[in-house]
Amino acid sequence: MRIGVLTGGGDCPGLNAVIRAVVRTANGRYGDSIVGFNDGWRGLLEDRKVQLQNDDRNDRLLTKGGTMLGTARTNPEKLRAGIDQIKQTLDDNGIDVLIPIGGEGTLTAAHWLAEEGVAVVGVPKTIDNDIDCTDVTFGFDTALTIATEAIDRLHSTAESHQRVMLVEVMGRHAGWIALHSGLASGAHMTLIPEQPFDVDEVCALVKKRFQSGMSHFICVVAEGAHPAPESMTLREGGIDEFGHERFTGVAQQLGVEIERRINKEVRTTVLGHVQRGGTPTPFDRVLATRFGVNAVDAAHAGAFGNMVSLRGTEISLVPLADATRQLKRVPQSRYDDAAAFFG
Ligand code: F6P
Repeated sequence: MRIGVLTGGGDCPGLNAVIRAVVRTANGRYGDSIVGFNDGWRGLLEDRKVQLQNDDRNDRLLTKGGTMLGTARTNPEKLRAGIDQIKQTLDDNGIDVLIPIGGEGTLTAAHWLAEEGVAVVGVPKTIDNDIDCTDVTFGFDTALTIATEAIDRLHSTAESHQRVMLVEVMGRHAGWIALHSGLASGAHMTLIPEQPFDVDEVCALVKKRFQSGMSHFICVVAEGAHPAPESMTLREGGIDEFGHERFTGVAQQLGVEIERRINKEVRTTVLGHVQRGGTPTPFDRVLATRFGVNAVDAAHAGAFGNMVSLRGTEISLVPLADATRQLKRVPQSRYDDAAAFFG
């Protein structure tokens, strides 16, 4: 069999571990040949690829961050228009099964291809953990670890200066990183996209905490968190590739507002892409490896149009149609667990 593999969307720790596992399983277990397409779907649109071997270089990929294939975000409309070209490239290269590794956009494109009869097995990735039908995606644990360590460090300096510290973490549409890093680091409040916040309520909580003699206030803010419309107006940051409104600098803007409303010293830290860089945690290496092995097994079982997924402790297959219907957002009950520690 000839297997094609690509990584699409934002990069994420563990992508290389999946590639390594795909190559090793496909070549070692089944004697397949493997073609890696460069820079996500662009590689298929432009027929740019590399032959992947089960060699030393591949073996060393396990701990490397990023993706050795390169990645890119491709506008979904461009992709739809390019489906025939993608099919042509697959045919020209004799690809029997394609394994796209990616998030919402990449898996949606994989689903379109599957509907067109292309043999596809998807692998979900994202630090945001917002892909539906899988308990977790690799990359999330690494990002969470980085964010938690950073917030742990902010406690001591915030305490020394009796400051309010706002920490912005990634999560455009879902607040998993914010919620979990807030819980793990003992933050005093967490703001996520699923729960519009009221600036007066944030200020009231800050005031109450200081009045009760506490020394500092740490609030984790997901980048996609937004205020209730009557509470504060955010400056827009444009439109993302899915056509969603994008706000930038929410923590910075909230910090200015808190200082203005209650005259308390605020400092803001934006963690940004540091959350996505570097070596994956052991948990992510293991999950990525299991996803890669199982994607190749699924390809050989002819289980096309599916995505590998973690359910409990087991890897299973779910239809791409189900996995791409909606994003997995933080449910109210999970937010309520964290809210018990606010203030
Ligand atoms: O989708 C993952 C993600 O890390 C988001 O949390 C974040 O908003 C986005 O990627 C950043 O993307 P880019 O690398 O294009 O700036």
